[in-house]
Amino acid sequence: MPSRNKPLLDVMNGGNPGKTPIWLMRQAGRYLPEYRELRAHKGGFLELVYDTDAAAEVTLQPIRRFGFDGAILFSDILIVPHALGMDLRFEAGEGPRLSPPLVDSALAALEAAPERLAPVYETVDKVKGQLPAETTFLGFAGSPWTVATYMVAGQGSREQAEARRYAYRDPEAFQGIVDAVGAMTVDYLSGQVAAGVDAVQLFDSWAGSLSPAQFEQWVIAPTARIVAAFKARHPDIPVIGFPKGAGGKLPAYARETGVDVIGLDETVDPAWAAAALPPELPLQGNLDPLALIAGGAALEKAVDNILSAFANRPHIFNLGHGILPDTPIAHVEYLLKLVRR
Ligand code: CP3
Repeated sequence: MPSRNKPLLDVMNGGNPGKTPIWLMRQAGRYLPEYRELRAHKGGFLELVYDTDAAAEVTLQPIRRFGFDGAILFSDILIVPHALGMDLRFEAGEGPRLSPPLVDSALAALEAAPERLAPVYETVDKVKGQLPAETTFLGFAGSPWTVATYMVAGQGSREQAEARRYAYRDPEAFQGIVDAVGAMTVDYLSGQVAAGVDAVQLFDSWAGSLSPAQFEQWVIAPTARIVAAFKARHPDIPVIGFPKGAGGKLPAYARETGVDVIGLDETVDPAWAAAALPPELPLQGNLDPLALIAGGAALEKAVDNILSAFANRPHIFNLGHGILPDTPIAHVEYLLKLVRR
């Protein structure tokens, strides 16, 4: 059902309104002084996520400042392993730590703590009442492969080598992790929808490190199962898949997963994607976050290239990956002007 007053949601449903909607991955975050101030006040990232008034405030900050067409829930993909029973910490300057790392500890030993998801639903409910009517509200989760890379290594890892090794060495155990993440992800996304989001995105940030057969097994198959189970509960809620680094595997991902929209990273040539992916399929992306930092003529050229390649199909403007903390606010303002010109 076209919503009429939500341009981003309309494009996800296949409309091409002639005015390109825009939001930015990681738009709630450290490049915003108001975010840094609130985070310092709350003492840490998880404190912010689990304080539902603060998380709602952070979700709304970029909407108030820039008027993006979409608001993305403020949370993290690692809340799911936390709810599966792992300990989760974010050390300043070090990134996330999950323990015990599953490379040397059994999934079965974890005691699930699904109540850790409840505050996120409360945040959705609080944001919902404060969003402008024309703003689409996006929920999200990580895809099983990307989340599993953190669960296995206990932290971010170079080329996701620990998880890839583990998946080759013990595919059954790795399947168990992927299945556990997948099942909880369906519940988690459904809970976000029940609380009020309009659409959801699956972040598969590390999809690019897998060989074709492993991509089929650990990205496409688990994503297809999540989408099918989610759609059985919420047939009208669009799902954006973002398999970063998938490159030439994108057509197979588009054909086989059932996602409604595909997010492209900045390494994908927009002209290639426009030709290689089905013409009705809405695409999202794919400005290089570094072109946004550069600004000026480099930014103008990159934006033109993207807008012209996707002019004749449903397109959502976004970055190819999350906005970087040193991005000048003025460049974000200029980007909005260029896209909405
Ligand atoms: O997009 C948004 O504005 C919504 C919130 C959001 C966050 N993380 C907040 C966050 C979303 C959608 C994510 C997704 C996420 N989290 C991904 C996938 C997307 C991507 O960028 O690849 C991944 C891999 C994570 C895991 C994660 N969370 C890492 C590796 C880190 C540390 C690195 C970093 O950027 O600081 C985080 C922390 C995190 N998640 C921050 C934010 C705003 C920074 C925390 C802080 O220091 O304030």
